[in-house]
Amino acid sequence: MKRIGILTSGGDTPGMNAAIRSVFKEGLARGYAVMGIYHGYKGLIEGSVRQLDHGDVENIMHKGGTILRTARSAEFMQAGGMQKALDVIRAYNMDGLVVVGGDGSFRGVKALSDAGIRAVGIPGTIDNDMGYTDFTIGFDTAINNVMAEIYKIRDTMLSHDRVGIIEVMGRACGDIALWAGVAAAADIIIVPEIPLPWEKVAEQLTVNKIKGKKTSIVMISEGAGKASDLVKYLCDNTDIESKSVVLGYIQRGGNPTAHDRIIAVRMGARAVELIDEGKTGRAVGIKENRVIDVDIAEAVSTPDRIDASLYAVNATLAKF
Ligand code: F6P
Repeated sequence: MKRIGILTSGGDTPGMNAAIRSVFKEGLARGYAVMGIYHGYKGLIEGSVRQLDHGDVENIMHKGGTILRTARSAEFMQAGGMQKALDVIRAYNMDGLVVVGGDGSFRGVKALSDAGIRAVGIPGTIDNDMGYTDFTIGFDTAINNVMAEIYKIRDTMLSHDRVGIIEVMGRACGDIALWAGVAAAADIIIVPEIPLPWEKVAEQLTVNKIKGKKTSIVMISEGAGKASDLVKYLCDNTDIESKSVVLGYIQRGGNPTAHDRIIAVRMGARAVELIDEGKTGRAVGIKENRVIDVDIAEAVSTPDRIDASLYAVNATLAKF
C-alpha cells in the first residue's frame, strides 16, 4: 500500500487536528495508508512513527492542539539531523510527507523536497505571518480568543476609569493585534510593521481623556514592545492610570472556529491530492477564498504585509 506521512511542527494551532483528519481521509480515498509522525521533525528524526487508524481521527475535528503533538527541532536543520530524517522516511517507505506548520517548518519542507522527498506544506500558525496565503490555520481562532478576552478586560477597566494595555502574540507580525483589535473596537493598535512612538500613544490617550473617554483599550503586539513598559511610560509621563495584561498561551488553545476547520479541511485534502499527482516542494494556501498551491521556495520568501487599510480605518474610527 502507498504511504503518506504527516507531522505538525512549531507552535500548535487550533485547526491542526482538522487538517490531520482531512489528510487521513483524503489519503484513504486515494489508496494511501497515513503514517502519523509524533512531535514534529524531532519525532521524524527519532523514528516516532505509527500508522493512523480511524480511532485516531474520530472526534478530533473540534479539538484544539494537535493529536500528533509538536516540537521545535534545531537538530533537524543540521546535516546529521536531515540524514536521519531521510533514513526514517525511506525506512517507512513513505511516498510523500505533509507538514503542518509555520515559516520555520516550511524551511524543512523545502530542505526535504530538495533532497528528493515529495513534501508539501500546509500553513499552520496563529501568527498569520505567511505572505503567500491570506490565512493560516489557527489565526481566526486566536483572534476570536483575544476578542473575547478584551471584552472581559474592558468591563473592569471601565469600572475603574483605567486604560487596558493588552499584549498579544505574533512574533514579528501584528495581525493578531490588528484584527482582534478592530473586532473589539480597540482605541490604539501598536504593531511592529507600523511604528507608533509612545509619545503619540500618550498624546492620543490624553486627548481621549479630555474628551471624556475615561477608559481606552490599547493593543500591543509582542513584536512591537512590552505592555508593562508602556504602562511604566504612561505612569512616568501622564496622569493616566493603566494596567497591562499579557494574554499568552490562552490565545493558542481552545476549539477551532468554523473558518479554521474549513480551511484546514480544504488544504489538507489538496495537500494529499498534490502528492498523489506526483508534485513536490509545494505549499498549499488560501487566496481570495480559493485553495492555491505555490512553490515552497516562493512560500518562504514572499514578504508578509500588514493590512494597512484595516489599520487606517481603525485609526480613524478611534479618534471619534
Ligand atoms: O508562532 C506562534 C507563536 O505562538 C508566536 O506567536 C509566539 O511568539 C511563539 O509561538 C511562542 O512560542 P513558544 O510556544 O515556543 O513559547
